[in-house]
Amino acid sequence: SAQEDYKLWLQYKKVQDTKIASNYQSKINGIYALGNSETIQAATKEMQSGLSGLLDRTIALQQNTNSENLLILGIQSSLDEAILKNLKNELDLINNEGYLIKSIQLKNKKHILITAKTDIGVLYGVFNFLKLLQTNQSIENLAITDAPKINIRMLNHWDNLDGTVERGYAGFSLWNWQKLPDFIDQRYIDYARTNASIGINGTVINNVNANALILTPQYLEKVETLAKVFRPYGIKVYLTARFSAPIEIGGLKTADPFDADVKNWWKEKAKEIYQRIPDFGGFLVKANSEGQPGPQNYGRNHVDGANMLADAVAPFGGMVMWRAFVYSEHDADDRAKQAYSEFVPYDGKFRDNVIVQVKNGAIDFQPREPFHPMFGAMPKTPLMMEFQITQEYLGFSTHLVYLPKLYQEVLESDTYSKGKGSTVAKIIDGTLDHHKITGIAGVANIGNDINWTGHPFAQANWYGFGRLAWNPYQDSETIAEDWLRMTFSNEENFIKPVKEMMLESREAVVNYMTPLGLHHIMDTGHHYGPGPWVSNLSRPEWNPTYYHKADTKGIGFDRSKTGSNATAQYAPEVAKIFDNVVTCPEKDLLWFHHLSWDYKLKNGEKLWNSLAFKYQEGVNQVASMNATWNKMEHYVDETRFKEVQMLLNIQHKEAKWWRDACLLYFQQFSGKELPKGVEKPT
Ligand code: GCU
Repeated sequence: SAQEDYKLWLQYKKVQDTKIASNYQSKINGIYALGNSETIQAATKEMQSGLSGLLDRTIALQQNTNSENLLILGIQSSLDEAILKNLKNELDLINNEGYLIKSIQLKNKKHILITAKTDIGVLYGVFNFLKLLQTNQSIENLAITDAPKINIRMLNHWDNLDGTVERGYAGFSLWNWQKLPDFIDQRYIDYARTNASIGINGTVINNVNANALILTPQYLEKVETLAKVFRPYGIKVYLTARFSAPIEIGGLKTADPFDADVKNWWKEKAKEIYQRIPDFGGFLVKANSEGQPGPQNYGRNHVDGANMLADAVAPFGGMVMWRAFVYSEHDADDRAKQAYSEFVPYDGKFRDNVIVQVKNGAIDFQPREPFHPMFGAMPKTPLMMEFQITQEYLGFSTHLVYLPKLYQEVLESDTYSKGKGSTVAKIIDGTLDHHKITGIAGVANIGNDINWTGHPFAQANWYGFGRLAWNPYQDSETIAEDWLRMTFSNEENFIKPVKEMMLESREAVVNYMTPLGLHHIMDTGHHYGPGPWVSNLSRPEWNPTYYHKADTKGIGFDRSKTGSNATAQYAPEVAKIFDNVVTCPEKDLLWFHHLSWDYKLKNGEKLWNSLAFKYQEGVNQVASMNATWNKMEHYVDETRFKEVQMLLNIQHKEAKWWRDACLLYFQQFSGKELPKGVEKPT
């Protein structure tokens, strides 16, 4: 139903398995909560409402520990001697946001303790305890400690002040600027709860293509309210800062970062913001990228711009996230190289409260990209990952694509920056280069649709992003399983096939859109559907033909030594692998090489045939996703079952559209027949 659509993975449905349910019933008899902060209140309320659904009865709050089987919640410093005796040094081993869930005894009575160093840790513990029940796990002899590995775990909303969402496919913006600050939509609270349930602790609420108006008092008053709503859930608000704001809303003649008035304007602006929002997170900045203003407009560079803003927020403990998504038509031999060339020379030159935010790949959120060469190349600068959760190039909210598979692939990639094992995960969690400030951002797929994300399964991408932000070493398969159990059902006959379907969905989209390393061949502007033929856009690097370079001789972008030499931006070990067509992974082949249509792949097939088979395989995979889902009616409520069914039907139709369009187009160059087994366009 619409209600189930809305509740995301916090369904808290009655536990179905009677044995498991009666075990939970016997182990949970009351809640004893210590402390009275807003966060502890939120944690207590969540525990109560979660349990009332899962156990189908009201679990009373207790004022003491006289009865048995209590859930005891509270920070370490609020616990009395008798409880503390049950602790070893668990909490000393984890950071401030971590938590401990432990089975304890008090005067021969059994209880479960959820504790942490801070209130927010307790809230995280509560959500994770509820998850145990939601996923039908044992709650006996508990001794779970867990803590996030990355400090800043944030969503980036590309929300405009007029309510539209750039690259948003789930309705309009959640933020109702017209009704704020006095009207607090219940959705703001549920948004915060839901994020807290996966450990997200920051949100940039407005678009990177920024409007300076967000920094005016009229808007800051509204932002202040949102910050207040999010605060009990441990979520800090950040804003994007339009670099030219001093001119647009400050009445200055310049935004030159070296100008004294400009510096002062930002200092005063920071002060004003922090007066309203003492825990304001800081600024996210897109500068000198895709027409946005920036320091280069005044002959200054990224360091000059970032450090000026960093100095403005530093007295208040604020951060500047400076984005590295830059490319221009002036350096158009290979767009993939530009961010690295522009940023790597500045390694070590940014202030301590600047973190450089880098997209996962060097082009732009494609179904598959090799990891961005900046990872590993700036050891003296904290780099933050930017993933896209909204499916700009991946079928919007129409196609089912389980993105944690993609995230995991990137996080596990080995940069070799400090020898073998220097994975991207180790760079962004700070362990490789010993950074204290670490971060990860996901461009949100959330809007005001009833189900928040447009596609019921797109909820899993929000969920999975949060889980990987907490711990980038987790397996996307475990995450998919948890999400399915919490969102739909614990029945094995449902979990197994649907999990398989999710895990395969990412490779399916690669196959039917951009197999073998192809990229950026979506129709331009909106980026939906195939458009490999488009070649008339004003900037060369906006045209799909720029990326696939198909001609009668072959196809692919030569980024090896013989081509743009983008491979040289990777560590020598990695460059060597990508450079050599024999060692280059076939999944990245046409990203790095321009190859003849007759080039033979490892399986002995020629490139043209292999490409055709990949497109067909993508279509087949979507067909089998459909078949799987069609058998699941019994396990899912009618609304969500039908929604997913209709969407998968569209996806199947569009996978064929992609296959037919791309193969017909490329066939003009290859001049070859489609191999047997590949369906002819109808
Ligand atoms: C992509 C996207 C833009 C967005 C940009 C960015 O190019 O199409 O809409 O503004 O990324 O990340 O800044």
